[in-house]
Amino acid sequence: MRLIGWLGFTVAALVAGTTAARAEDGYDLWMRYRALSPARAATLHRDAQAVEIRGDTATLRAAADELRRGLTGLTGAASLQGSSTTAIMLATASDRDVATLRLPVASLGDEGYVVRAASIGGRRVTLVTANTDRGVLYGSFALLRHLQTGGTLAGVALSSAPRVKLRVLNHWDNLDGIVERGYAGQSLWDWWTLPDFKDPRYADYARANASIGINGTVLNNVNAKPESLSPRYIAKAAALADVFRPYGIKVYLSARFSAPIELGGLKTADPLDPQVAAWWKAKADEIYRAIPDFGGFLVKANSEGQPGPRDYHRSHADGANMLAAAVAPHDGIVMWRAFVYAETDPDDRAKQAYTEFKPLDGRFAKNVIVQVKNGAIDFQPREPFHPLFGAMPRTPLMIEFQTTKEYLGFATHLAYLGPMFAETLASDTMARGKGSTVARVVDGSLEGHALTGMAGVANIGRDRDWAGSPFNQANWYAFGRMAWDPTIGAEPVAREWAAMTFGASPAIVGPVTTMMMGSREAVVDYMTPLGLAHVMATGHHYGPGPWVAELKRPEWNPVYYHRADKAGIGFDRTRTGSNAVAQYAPPVARGLADPATTPERDLLWFHHVAWDRPMASGRTLWAEMVHDYDRGVGYVGGMRRQWNALRSEIDADRWTKTDRFLAIQEQEARWWRDASLSYWMSVNGLALPTGAAPPAHDLAWYRAQSFPYAPGNPQ
Ligand code: GCU
Repeated sequence: MRLIGWLGFTVAALVAGTTAARAEDGYDLWMRYRALSPARAATLHRDAQAVEIRGDTATLRAAADELRRGLTGLTGAASLQGSSTTAIMLATASDRDVATLRLPVASLGDEGYVVRAASIGGRRVTLVTANTDRGVLYGSFALLRHLQTGGTLAGVALSSAPRVKLRVLNHWDNLDGIVERGYAGQSLWDWWTLPDFKDPRYADYARANASIGINGTVLNNVNAKPESLSPRYIAKAAALADVFRPYGIKVYLSARFSAPIELGGLKTADPLDPQVAAWWKAKADEIYRAIPDFGGFLVKANSEGQPGPRDYHRSHADGANMLAAAVAPHDGIVMWRAFVYAETDPDDRAKQAYTEFKPLDGRFAKNVIVQVKNGAIDFQPREPFHPLFGAMPRTPLMIEFQTTKEYLGFATHLAYLGPMFAETLASDTMARGKGSTVARVVDGSLEGHALTGMAGVANIGRDRDWAGSPFNQANWYAFGRMAWDPTIGAEPVAREWAAMTFGASPAIVGPVTTMMMGSREAVVDYMTPLGLAHVMATGHHYGPGPWVAELKRPEWNPVYYHRADKAGIGFDRTRTGSNAVAQYAPPVARGLADPATTPERDLLWFHHVAWDRPMASGRTLWAEMVHDYDRGVGYVGGMRRQWNALRSEIDADRWTKTDRFLAIQEQEARWWRDASLSYWMSVNGLALPTGAAPPAHDLAWYRAQSFPYAPGNPQ
């Protein structure tokens, strides 16, 4: 008997173990809904025996299903279907019983929600309400977040409305399934089997986005193929839109500006040619017949070889407005990217978007929003905020962040981007005096714009854990939460993500949050300290390449960005150099014009300074750089130790993958440090400060490394 009992136990434990291991492969993201402690589970079960909905829309059903799924998991109880004495009730504010409560719903707009205890029809319920069923959906997810992060139903009082209207992912997914700058496997969209087969993952993707308030997705790469707009692919996009609709997510498409030539057989794509305008209008009508709530177009024009209105000597406004007219009758919008730099323009690359777009302020149609990257170069580990923010008061501007870590170690490096998003959003443009933050440009409050948005280049692929690693999921999560509220702060977001993703106990949340909060700064330290930028290897951007100098276009070469010579290092963007500082509002520009008043973290972005320049720490610039590289490597070692101490708290699969990735990261951080220092020493002829470890190899070794199959490279 004892043997059988033991065997029975073992088998049960094994089965449970296997199930747990499968379930903890990261697929569930932050929507794991694992059982609470027995006492908390019992209380929750007592207080929420049923989930009831008033009304019957697909969105309300999705919200109720999610709550049932969540409560079933959190309480470990099976049945939550019927009506019962204690319930969570989902109803819009127009419901007769809800209306009598006179809740302050006017300020909630279309997407905000209220969650609180209420008396409905003589019963005490936990009410989730909003002006729309989308608001109810967001409220349901907010309630689940509350319960997953230690909250209870007793006294629950949640209320929130998004501060930004368009909260959109940009998928750089190609029609052949390759994701440009994607490090989480093939595209989630199986274009080949769409529209007939709708992978169940599409609905899970929509749930995940809705849970963090993302309400739009651009399905295809900004480097767009014309075929994305062909009838066949419109049908595929429509199938995805059908899956996403109940979750409040609109579909958008990147449009190739020359599509009227390639698809329509026209001789030109000149935006002022009536035939071209008519082609786009007919194309928009065709799309809206298939996708009645189609969001609109995203356009990368005249940038990195893409066609655009400049090919016809027209402005970006001419191009954007022509497309805007095509979608306007359907309430569509155009997101027109400001990421431009021209082959023929010898000016500082960091200046070119401003130079081209600033004069167009006020010339865009009402349904155009200009999409501006967070910084003026290209998603570097750190960039000062883009000078266009605050500089185009009469034009709605949306910010574009990259959640896929093209320049921050791909999927393998642990770099929580919340602090980076928050740093940019909190930057003060001073455009209308103190407090004119980028967040206030983005949420429209600075200039009174209603059309507002935030875009995140997605880090999502077909990997089982969606984002290539458990910690990369946090960047998707943080993007959504910060798009909903750009002032929320990186740390609260990290805490709630850690609680939902790994477990709400302080023994987990504390150390995981600590690891995350310094992780992006560590990448800055070991890749691009003190304002350096774009020193990555060519093409794939994997690993160091500060020595690269021979590429055709000057701004393709890292030496263009760091300008290191025997005397010093850094890009002079003051009056003696490119004068890019003059693109900022005068008080900001004044501060940046002088190395003494430039934040040290941005020093080499704006100034060429001597290697022996004294820094605030008392060290020379050179010693400070070495110190920063070492600090970055050291931080990764620290994360490894903290993660090691969490071994008993985290499931084996996710723990092990993270552990191995941290080992890779430490190795690569050291490689970055050593390769960079070898190169700088070859330029400045200086010795390492006492105590600093010499690089493991000579410069020739670092220069000889090559990675022809690094992932994510454009095709
Ligand atoms: C970067 C990236 C490209 C991408 C481009 C863009 O330059 O390396 O792959 O196409 O940004 O944002 O358009």
